[in-house]
Amino acid sequence: MATYKIAVLPGDGIGQEVTPEARKVLQLVAKATGLGLEFETALIGGSAIDAAGTPLPPATLALCQGAHAILFGAVGGPKWDNLPQEQRPERGLLGIRKELDLFANLRPATCFPMLVDASPLKRSVVEGTDIMVIRELTGGLYFGEPRGREEFADGSARAVNTMAYSSREIERVARAAFDVAMKRRKRLASVDKANVLVVSQLWREVVTRVGKDYPQVQPEHVLVDNCAMALVHKATHFGTNVTEDTFGQLLSDEAAILAGSMGMLPSASLGGKGGRLGLFEPVHGTAPDIAGQGVANPIAAILSASMLLRYSLDRGPDGDRIDAAVLRVLEQGHRTRDIHSAGTKLVGTIEMGDLICREVEKSY
Ligand code: IPM
Ligand code: MG
Repeated sequence: MATYKIAVLPGDGIGQEVTPEARKVLQLVAKATGLGLEFETALIGGSAIDAAGTPLPPATLALCQGAHAILFGAVGGPKWDNLPQEQRPERGLLGIRKELDLFANLRPATCFPMLVDASPLKRSVVEGTDIMVIRELTGGLYFGEPRGREEFADGSARAVNTMAYSSREIERVARAAFDVAMKRRKRLASVDKANVLVVSQLWREVVTRVGKDYPQVQPEHVLVDNCAMALVHKATHFGTNVTEDTFGQLLSDEAAILAGSMGMLPSASLGGKGGRLGLFEPVHGTAPDIAGQGVANPIAAILSASMLLRYSLDRGPDGDRIDAAVLRVLEQGHRTRDIHSAGTKLVGTIEMGDLICREVEKSY
């Protein structure tokens, strides 16, 4: 059987705590199935700045370029907040996305029945939520040109970012989104601001054209402000959403609340190498307020490992076992602090990882 190389980039804060749990689960799957997985760890983000003076050391980029998939933790933290924009930990992640051409970010937000009450939103809103937010990741406002800042002699300044897309960039993320929608409820909402932005008008035009190749999918166009409202009002209306980088950034964090806790949400960034290379990371960040205490929820990282098996290694059934194991552990009443409530059993990061491993092991 083939051997796959997995680059492991824990990064900063709780990334250091949850990533080993995800790796533990992958190692277990490898042992149970004979799948060859070779792990190599590298520095990224703030810890790379401290050790190597840059958020994305060349050795890390080279490792990622040679890997089949990347298991990522999180980057950033107050320690590096005062660095100039281009040297911040976040640049490490943005650099990998751009260098490896990971253009489609998939963020599922599913409300597990036993966690309905973990969401601060009403049961009637969150119950049944099962949304996939697909966000374009290498164009749009984050990367568009021109961008930068100029200082004037009178002491004033001007700064600019540009939301720019070529029809090719829109087309490839639209295709990725229609492909995903085909495997889910066949409903795709394309989110834009076409009543104001010309870039959104092009977006709308291209998505409409691509949609003609997917007659089974029901597409609709939704304005981003309206979508933000509808998400917390009638979330179950949505199946798969596709949108620009910044819009998706906002909507996917909003959708996280529908799923109870940020600690539950995995993500995949796909592209590169014929669409198969992927970076898999929990949606939550470094959570500096709880880092180092062993209380972080590893479920988002573990579900990201499941996405890694599914999307980069074509091992969907092994991913299903992980997803099912997570559900069983939750059904048994185990909870980390972020999703804990009266009557459930409080566990720490490592214990949650062990419980999930045990269930995965039993499933083989
Ligand atoms: C995300 C994160 C990143 C982003 C940061 C860490 C650069 O917030 O993936 O949602 O803004 O894209
Ligand atoms: Mg974000």
